Amino acid sequence: MKKQTILWSLLLTAGFFLNACKDTGENKSEMKTPVDAARTPSGSSLTVAEAKTKTIADLQEAFSGESNATARYAAFSKKAAEEGYKEIALLFKAASLAEKVHAGNHKAVLEEMGIAVTPAKIEVKVLSTKENLEFAIKGETYEATTMYPNFLKDADAAGNQLALISLNYAYKTEKKHKAFYEQALAALTANKLSSLPSVYFVCPTCGNTYETAAPKRCGISMTSGEKFIKINTL
Ligand SMILES: [Fe+2]
Ligand SMILES: [Fe+2]
Repeated sequence: MKKQTILWSLLLTAGFFLNACKDTGENKSEMKTPVDAARTPSGSSLTVAEAKTKTIADLQEAFSGESNATARYAAFSKKAAEEGYKEIALLFKAASLAEKVHAGNHKAVLEEMGIAVTPAKIEVKVLSTKENLEFAIKGETYEATTMYPNFLKDADAAGNQLALISLNYAYKTEKKHKAFYEQALAALTANKLSSLPSVYFVCPTCGNTYETAAPKRCGISMTSGEKFIKINTL
């Protein structure tokens, strides 16, 4: 008898719970899509639907930025070579390749989402190598401290795993590029260019950039070091 009472109370509780769920669902049905309209668990101020839309815009902006960086660093490499700074020309060449990998990854994610990607409008302004390095440091700093951290929050709120991977590859690489450019600017200012590396290795998966030697595996994407692209000639 006691066992029967417990069973009935469990069934009643379950019934109340199911009714409560049904009520919540009916209330939410007034909104466009209950799942997308929900607040994200990441603490983002965006709804899931807003985060999804924002992530598409972020990826398009990142694709445009990386495409421009590819062209800009290739032009900066040429300028550094003309000015006789081979070591800096090699760094710009390696970074240009890394940015090309990032642009390709962002484009691939957008295409996976069914978004048609239009080629970026390329605007390149070449100054002296010292000024080019200063400009590059500013760009990498913005990407590594503001742009990619914000884009990663949006992709997290949207639950977009591929966007998270692609944005994270770029975010981690730009932090390294910033340090390389700062090192190059310091060497140029101190007239100690021979202290700079004369060879770079770029990961074909994530753009991760290493000076002097390739690792056994990429520290970001775990790609085998044997697949890295060596940059030691202009
Ligand atoms: Fe990049
Ligand atoms: Fe970069």
